Amino acid sequence: MINHPFLCFVPILLIIAQSAEGCYTSIFAFGDSLTDNGNLLALSAPRIIHQGRLPNGETYFHHPTGRCCDGRLIVDFLAQQFGLPIPPPYTEVSKERTMDVRAGVNFAVAGARALDTDFYDKIGIIDPVTNDTLRVQLDWFKHMLPSICGPEKDCGGQLKSSLVLLGPFGGNDYRYALFQGASLAERKLLAHLITDAAVSAVNELVELGVGAVMVPGLVPDGCLAVSLTYFGSPNTGNYDLSTGCINWLNEFAEYHNELLQTKLNMARKRHPTAAIIYADYYNAILQLYRNPEEYGFRRTTAACCGDGGPYNYNKEVQCGDPPTTVCPDPSVYINWDGPHFTEAANRWITSALLRGPGRYTLPHLDTSCISEAASARHFTDA
Ligand SMILES: *[C@@H]1O[C@H](CO)[C@@H](O)[C@H](O)[C@H]1NC(C)=O
Repeated sequence: MINHPFLCFVPILLIIAQSAEGCYTSIFAFGDSLTDNGNLLALSAPRIIHQGRLPNGETYFHHPTGRCCDGRLIVDFLAQQFGLPIPPPYTEVSKERTMDVRAGVNFAVAGARALDTDFYDKIGIIDPVTNDTLRVQLDWFKHMLPSICGPEKDCGGQLKSSLVLLGPFGGNDYRYALFQGASLAERKLLAHLITDAAVSAVNELVELGVGAVMVPGLVPDGCLAVSLTYFGSPNTGNYDLSTGCINWLNEFAEYHNELLQTKLNMARKRHPTAAIIYADYYNAILQLYRNPEEYGFRRTTAACCGDGGPYNYNKEVQCGDPPTTVCPDPSVYINWDGPHFTEAANRWITSALLRGPGRYTLPHLDTSCISEAASARHFTDA
């Protein structure tokens, strides 16, 4: 018994536990395709969807994983930076009942919207991809709490040191609404409902005992190859000439983000001891589009993986479906496939959130446990 091989690992585990002191002991994530690391692919099986095909996954995993990316997403980088395993997709842990879920689970589903399907059914806007909305993902989490909290059922203790990444949400709500003809006034109304939904999810998680919830704002939608293709215009006045992004789409993202921050402030007043963190994806990403060369990027608005056109994005075929092709060096592209970012961009964004000037998180994430050596290792290995 003394010579049981597993005992050899005990000292190593102790070291890991110690090094995580002050930071987070688990990471749970909710969201859409910017955060989904395998759920939609598993939920669509046996049908293989485009993110289940190469070149998705080629850079880091060397096989497709269901991520809309050549490699890691922000949630993956965050977990690695905090010395945690990449949180497994919910669909995997709900199948393999024996998997340890205490270090985290990823509930995000590509295509997911923030608002309930019932609501959209009433106003006649359909989501062609999934009905696994924010509400559905939160229910999955709540059903899993007995496994997450362990045999001691110490949910308070377990969740207190957890980090929840809640979003971003809203990208699909607005995109499907726009495609189906929603006016600006209608989208502003949606923004109120979406930010309410996000903040009530924050309150719910904090009331369950979660110590830190990070809520990202919308990304600069007007810079994405998908938006530039759908909403392109001969009127140069529509564009920010320094970045090539569409102004009215970015202004709407700013509108959403302002509302979200106002409502997060209200949640902070209600729960003063919880860390309710706003992650400014918008300005971090815009910084990349403004100074790409400074950070090693040579292509900004065009997608790396696509099927031609001014932004290498074709509405009819998604990356992974024939006849899309992939660029030789994704590490110099910001945009992967139209709506999503490359691993290189996700790495840069994560680094900006953790230690960039201003750090783009308010209040700051607790990074006291991240050693320089460990963080450098995870940011460089491929
Ligand atoms: C979502 O639910 C609606 C009914 O509420 C259904 O018509 C639609 O097919 C569902 N969409 C998906 C992608 O499952």
